Amino acid sequence: MVKDSLSLEAITSNLETRFIGQRVIYHSRVTSTNELAKQAVRQGAVEGTAVIADEQTAGRGRLERVWLSPKGSISLSIILYPGVTYLPSLIMVASLAVVRSIEAVTGLKSQLKWPNDVLVNGKKVCGILIENSVRGNIVNYAIIGIGVNVNLRLSDFPEILPTATSLSDELGREVSRLEIIRRLLVEIEKSYLALSAGESIYEEWRDSLVTLGRKVHIKSGDNDYEGIAESVASDGSLSLRHPDGSLTKIVAGDVTLCD
Ligand code: BTN
Repeated sequence: MVKDSLSLEAITSNLETRFIGQRVIYHSRVTSTNELAKQAVRQGAVEGTAVIADEQTAGRGRLERVWLSPKGSISLSIILYPGVTYLPSLIMVASLAVVRSIEAVTGLKSQLKWPNDVLVNGKKVCGILIENSVRGNIVNYAIIGIGVNVNLRLSDFPEILPTATSLSDELGREVSRLEIIRRLLVEIEKSYLALSAGESIYEEWRDSLVTLGRKVHIKSGDNDYEGIAESVASDGSLSLRHPDGSLTKIVAGDVTLCD
């Protein structure tokens, strides 16, 4: 069995980053690491501060959903103060960091389902919630929230069993959350710095999407669409080709893969 306890010391010691994860707020149990991160912003937290918990009692997902985060999962939020032009790329930074970290630590290949899900063998293993506060062109903060199902037996959670998986269920053994967290911090920094150096991470993100070329159903606000997910742009939006040949650009939504 893998030693799976987290501590501030274990997360930060000899961490090979300049600023992501150099400050960590760690608790065994919180409501939501994204909420705690917002409080930390109000108290002047520096860029790269990570809020990490063993367990969330009120984890939040996209579209006002509940995110289950019992013991054995990773709940991690990173505080950033990016320029406004970088905001659309933060989902690329976060999702590529997850794909690379899962592969580096476990050997498992994962794919991305536009806009924010990470899948292993077609089931969701990780969700990402990015929250920000922007006034005009000024970003007050951006928080990248990442939840990974690491050592969970999905049969204990029948409500998400049909669509979700965990790294331990996929591998048939436990996985070190500490290794995944430390790798995530390194990978997030790598891609975030690449952005500010003017490098593009868009192509790698696009090529990791399972969504492209697939027949999809998309719920976006009050609208429901069906068509072929044709392409994604570097601003993160998705172009959907309708059966009548017309095209809709979708900025945010909930995608179901139809085939
Ligand atoms: C989703 O797929 O709907 C997004 C889920 C995001 C969950 C993470 S866990 C860490 C952070 N804190 C939260 O309350 N939510 C995000």
